[in-house]
Amino acid sequence: MKFAEMYADIKPSGMLKLFQAAAATPDVVNLGEGEPDFDTEHDIVDVAARAAKEGYTHYGPIQGYPDVRQAVCNYWERRYALSSTPDEVMIMAGGVQSVHLALQALLNPGDEVIVAEPCFSPYFEQIHQHRGVAVHLPTTEAQGFVPSGEDIERLVTPRSRVLMICSPSNPTGRVMKREQMESIARAAEKHDLVVLSDEIYDSMVYTGKHVPFATVPGMKERTLTMGGLSKSHCMTGWRIGYAIGPAPLIKVMSLIGANQTYGVNVPTQRAALYALERHDAKMEERARVFRDRLAYVAKRLNAMKGVTCAEPEGAFYLFPDISGTGVDSERFAWGLLEKGRVATLPGSAFGACGEGYVRIACTRSMEMLEKGMDRMEQFVKSL
Ligand SMILES: Cc1ncc(COP(=O)(O)O)c(C=O)c1O
Repeated sequence: MKFAEMYADIKPSGMLKLFQAAAATPDVVNLGEGEPDFDTEHDIVDVAARAAKEGYTHYGPIQGYPDVRQAVCNYWERRYALSSTPDEVMIMAGGVQSVHLALQALLNPGDEVIVAEPCFSPYFEQIHQHRGVAVHLPTTEAQGFVPSGEDIERLVTPRSRVLMICSPSNPTGRVMKREQMESIARAAEKHDLVVLSDEIYDSMVYTGKHVPFATVPGMKERTLTMGGLSKSHCMTGWRIGYAIGPAPLIKVMSLIGANQTYGVNVPTQRAALYALERHDAKMEERARVFRDRLAYVAKRLNAMKGVTCAEPEGAFYLFPDISGTGVDSERFAWGLLEKGRVATLPGSAFGACGEGYVRIACTRSMEMLEKGMDRMEQFVKSL
């Protein structure tokens, strides 16, 4: 069979290959997967089950139920003082769909998307699928892996249209400071860029509070805030997320979405409403668990020769520098899996500037993390 030219040589990403190898490794300590190890709380599951029994089994509104969109507004207002109205919100089949719809709505073929790296690697393929051009914006650990406005300006061309940022960051676990956001905001305003701000890890910030990029003065009208319940409410499998942004952009995204998923699973939307309104305390309890795990693993990493790891700031990731061990990040991650039976991801999978680092997801119990670190320590000694 002949496939479309743009997909003729599509292959599983390096990340997917490592996940597959990890799944086939007996007794592996899997610190590769970016999803919470906690199941969805049962009261949330019950709400979805009840909704289905009560007749929420039909098509729902394409943009999402108005009361669910209002619950998204309430959550961001209550927690982070980001004010918005339901016409500025769309409910999505996961955060991944927000990026697709936004890029579809915004890009003409050949338009440039500046991507702050290291970043969530599906962005690259998503930009390609919407016929945009990814412009790599590398950052360094000395900058906290956050670009400055000047870094952005150096890459701007007449085709620049969108800037993609993520904080708390996957893969680095770093959190943008307000001054850094302000510097980025100046560049976005000067060059009329739309900012796609991935804030799916909003509930996991360990020093201070999450600051939505859209709350920086002048940014609300050009920012799409992308969030979801996958990480905050342990609902990865439900495929529920949302975007908050200027109403005209949300409207176009909804019209495009009408020809794609035709809205989001309705019992899941009812469960999301309940979770957004009633689960802040649980969410914070889990954030404390992740914070303790990250602190433990960072300490263990810093005791390994050739490895250095910054203080955890957000999300459930650590991004230690392993360059002092003398091997590159691919060889390190594959060697650690094959010889040490610990799965991590090479930093280079998240953009070239991730070389010299590995991503460790602290999404396992303390016992497993201890076992993983003991094995990693032995592996590092063997290099
Ligand atoms: C930075 C980032 N954005 C978006 C997503 C997608 O999340 P979902 O589609 O499950 O909402 C992930 C998942 O790992 C992520 O790490």
